Amino acid sequence: PSDMAVLGIETSCDETAAAVVVGGSRVLSSVVSSQVDVHARYGGVVPEIASRAHVDLLTPVVAEALVESGVADREVGAVAATYGPGLVGALLVGVATAKALALVWDVPFVAVNHLEAHLHAALLDDPDVELPVVVLLVSGGHTLLVAMDAPGSYEVLGGTLDDAAGEAFDKVARFLGLGYPGGPAIDVAARRGDPTAVPLPRAMLDDGLELSFSGLKTAVINHCRRHPEVTTDDVAASFQAAVVDVLEAKALRAAAQVGARGICLGGGVAANSQLRSQITAAGGRAGLRVSLPSPAMCTDNAAMVAAAGWHRLRTVGPSPLDTGAVPGLGL
Ligand code: KG4
Ligand code: ZN
Repeated sequence: PSDMAVLGIETSCDETAAAVVVGGSRVLSSVVSSQVDVHARYGGVVPEIASRAHVDLLTPVVAEALVESGVADREVGAVAATYGPGLVGALLVGVATAKALALVWDVPFVAVNHLEAHLHAALLDDPDVELPVVVLLVSGGHTLLVAMDAPGSYEVLGGTLDDAAGEAFDKVARFLGLGYPGGPAIDVAARRGDPTAVPLPRAMLDDGLELSFSGLKTAVINHCRRHPEVTTDDVAASFQAAVVDVLEAKALRAAAQVGARGICLGGGVAANSQLRSQITAAGGRAGLRVSLPSPAMCTDNAAMVAAAGWHRLRTVGPSPLDTGAVPGLGL
C-alpha cells in the first residue's frame, strides 16, 4: 500500500544509519551514528574498522529508529538497504541485516543504489520540486550531474574525470593541516580568507559537463611551496571559490541543456555554505528553482534509502534474497 512504512538501512561508508519512512516521503525517524571520530586519527576511512563498527552499531541504531518512529515491528512493510556503491565489508553488514529482518518479519527486502538514494534525499526535503531537475551530487566519493525526469528515471549528464569534489576538499585540508574530514574545516577557514588571494585554475569551465579537480589540488600545493607566507585562510577561500565556480557553471549548463525547471543539491559537499549561497543566486538569475536539502539530508542517512526503497518496491518490486554487495555499482 502507498502508506507502507519502510525501514531503511545505510552502511556503505562510515555512517551507520537506520530510518523509518512512510509512503516514501514522511520521515518518522532517522538515526545516524557517525564513525568519523574513529577514523579521524587515520586521516581517512579504514575499511576494516568501518565494517567492525557497523557490526557493533547497527542493531542498536535499528532499534532506536524503530522506537523513535513509534512503528511496531509487525507494522514494517519492507526493509531496504544500500547494496552499493561503497566499501564491500561495510555494505555487507547492512545487506545481511536487512535480509535477516525481512525474513523474520516476512516482508519484502529491497536493495537500494546509494546514489539513487542521494537523489531521493533532494526530493524528501523539498516535495514540491517540479521535474525535470538537475541534481548536483557532490560527496566524498562522487561528483555527478544527473537529470531526473521522475523518481527512478535518471540520466547521468556528467561527472568528475578524477577526484570527487569532497575528496579534493579533504586532500587540500589535509595538506593545510586542517584535519579530517576537511570540507567543514575549509568552509570555516574560507570565511576569514580572501578568495582572490591565490590565482587557481577553473578546469574545463567553458565547455562540457565533465569536471576535474586533481589539477586544482596540485596548483594549491605548488602555490604554497612557492609562497610559504600565504595564509591558510586565503588558500582555503581561494580553493573553495575555484571549486564552487566550476560546480555552479556546470550545474547551470546542465540545467539549460536538458531544459530543467530547477537544480537540487545532494551529497556532503552540498553542506558547503559558499556553494549553497552561490548556486541559489545563480539559479535565481536563470529562473531556476534551487532546492537545498538540510545538511543532515545531504550527508549519508537512511531516510533517503527508505524513500528510494519505497519507490523501487512500487516500480521494480522486491529484490531477491541472494542479492550481494556491489562495491562498484553505478547509476
Ligand atoms: O555524502 P558524504 O557524507 O559521504 C560520502 O562521501 O558519501 O560526504 C562527505 C564529504 C567529505 O569529503 C566532506 O569533506 C565533505 O563531504 N563536506 C564538505 C562540507 N561538509 C562535508 N565539503 C565542503 N564544505 C562542507 N561544509
Ligand atoms: Zn553518500
